[in-house]
Amino acid sequence: MTLYSIRSFDKSVDATSFRCGQPVLDEYIRRYASQDVRRNVARVFLATPEEDFRRLAGFFTLSAGSVNCSALPEALAKNLPRYPVPVALIGRLGVASEFQGKGLGSMLLVDACKKVAHASAVLAVAGIVVDAKDAAAKAFYTHFGFQTLAGEHARLLLPATAFRV
Ligand SMILES: CC(C)(COP(=O)(O)OP(=O)(O)OC[C@H]1O[C@@H](n2cnc3c(N)ncnc32)[C@H](O)[C@@H]1OP(=O)(O)O)[C@@H](O)C(=O)NCCC(=O)NCCS
Repeated sequence: MTLYSIRSFDKSVDATSFRCGQPVLDEYIRRYASQDVRRNVARVFLATPEEDFRRLAGFFTLSAGSVNCSALPEALAKNLPRYPVPVALIGRLGVASEFQGKGLGSMLLVDACKKVAHASAVLAVAGIVVDAKDAAAKAFYTHFGFQTLAGEHARLLLPATAFRV
């Protein structure tokens, strides 16, 4: 079984041959991730196999965001104020094709939830939002309990009650 290290964006990791099946994500990690980190638009986390610290196996990004209360599932909305509520955003998440289907995607998602849970002790969020690129990505997130937001077919939310420490 492959073991992975997950750490903050690091230019020594080689993203040039990274392909996850979504060219827009490949392009992002190769060309734009480092400037997003520099400009404080996103934090980017990289997974590398423990035996090769320079090979990119997967990544995800975290940013702050907000959603309209009207888009939230009824059960959650009824306990919240009627103005936009703060959330954490997993803007992008991808696993290199050769590493897919072996648990790395779930490991990245769990790691992202843990990071948000820790951060939420000092910066409140009502949940974690993801933007699913296609039906397969949507199925992946719903498998972990994410719920579709009303009127936003590509956006899903995991309420804070599901991951709070
Ligand atoms: C979606 C993606 C991240 C999944 O990564 P992965 O490493 O293959 O996923 P895992 O092996 O950890 O699978 C985790 C679980 O999700 C399930 N799963 C994975 N892809 C799924 C899909 N498309 N539909 C439904 N379930 C899915 C697996 O069956 C597995 O369930 P189990 O733990 O009960 O067996 C990966 O396929 C990917 O990078 N795709 C392209 C980019 C993308 O779509 N990113 C997400 C949206 S931005």
